[in-house]
Amino acid sequence: MTVFSTESFADHEQVVFVSDAPSGLRAIIAVHDTSLGPGIGGCRMYPYASEEEALRDVLRLSRGMTFKAAAAGLDYGGAKAVIIGDPKTAKTPALLRAMGVAVDRLGGRYVTAEDVGTTVDDFAEVRKTTRHVVGLPAELGGSGDPSPTTALGVFIGLGAAARYRWGSHRLAGRTVAVQGLGNVGWHLCRLLADADAALVVSDIDPGRAAQAASAYGARVVEPEAIYAADADIFAPCAMGAIIDDGTIDALRAGIVGGAANNQLARQEHGFRLRDRGILYAPDFVINAAGMIRVASEIDGFDQALVDRRVARIATTLQAIFERADADAITTEAAAMDIAGQRLRAARARNAAALAT
Ligand code: NAI
Repeated sequence: MTVFSTESFADHEQVVFVSDAPSGLRAIIAVHDTSLGPGIGGCRMYPYASEEEALRDVLRLSRGMTFKAAAAGLDYGGAKAVIIGDPKTAKTPALLRAMGVAVDRLGGRYVTAEDVGTTVDDFAEVRKTTRHVVGLPAELGGSGDPSPTTALGVFIGLGAAARYRWGSHRLAGRTVAVQGLGNVGWHLCRLLADADAALVVSDIDPGRAAQAASAYGARVVEPEAIYAADADIFAPCAMGAIIDDGTIDALRAGIVGGAANNQLARQEHGFRLRDRGILYAPDFVINAAGMIRVASEIDGFDQALVDRRVARIATTLQAIFERADADAITTEAAAMDIAGQRLRAARARNAAALAT
């Protein structure tokens, strides 16, 4: 297995391979970039088929967190952890506490949180051996479920996209197709319904879709019919890689923006959206509000500060849309560029401070 020459290594500052024989813990912690501040990122537990797969995943995800935090204007960096194992069978309190010890050894350079395969309850256990944990329930000193805040950020971002595309941020009278009615999608529907937008929804759980129909007057379509729904906006809030050759051709919406991570199946799909005149709000920018919320726990949770930072998603997206049009690049590339500028400036400041 190679590490430094792995494509996704991408200049990681630190990659830590963790092993704890008594609990059976095998994990990788990847700290991509701490130029702006401590690296924040979830800890995923997954039965990876190989160590290479786990390494690739953690490197890719931690780099993504760097750009997400930088684009959100946060003074935090990007990091991520993966535990190799099946969460259904291999997750024990001892293993979680051992993971906490590993996180603690990094002295705050990595701040962990729940992710796929781990739960808030698991982190109550992790918290016993490290204080570098965010996203806990209020009774455990955290800021609670971030999903409603993520939904608010998406809602604000869709308003910014609507203003750029149609001259007004108001979504009243617009039709929004929401894919996935889970923690984020459900709250997003509520915000959209309150703003007098019409809803078309889909979920692989028909019961959930029926609930949205009765709560918000949403029109329910089959999961595969959501792309071609007659809607102004398509809001993916289920899984990633849903924007591909087939779905781009089907889309009738003028805007794509939602909570799902890694929505573009490949980078080139950003260009294809652009060619079709569809305005894409990059996922890692529009879905950052949950991260903004949990990150604020590090310096003491402050709702007013969180609200201000979440509201900034609109101005950041405006800058991204303008840059993309001015330079004839994708909105994703423009977002990376804007985040990259913050990172380069922080690195230069840090280097100058070291030299004095
Ligand atoms: P969730 O697991 O609560 O909800 C996902 C929903 O999508 C479920 O109701 C599921 O039945 C549905 N679904 C799955 N496949 C589908 C399909 N093919 N078509 C239609 N519906 C489908 O997840 P949550 O927390 O709402 O997150 C949604 C997405 O946003 C995920 O990709 C997540 O990674 C991302 N995200 C979530 C954040 C949060 O604060 N919860 C923050 C940033 C990103």
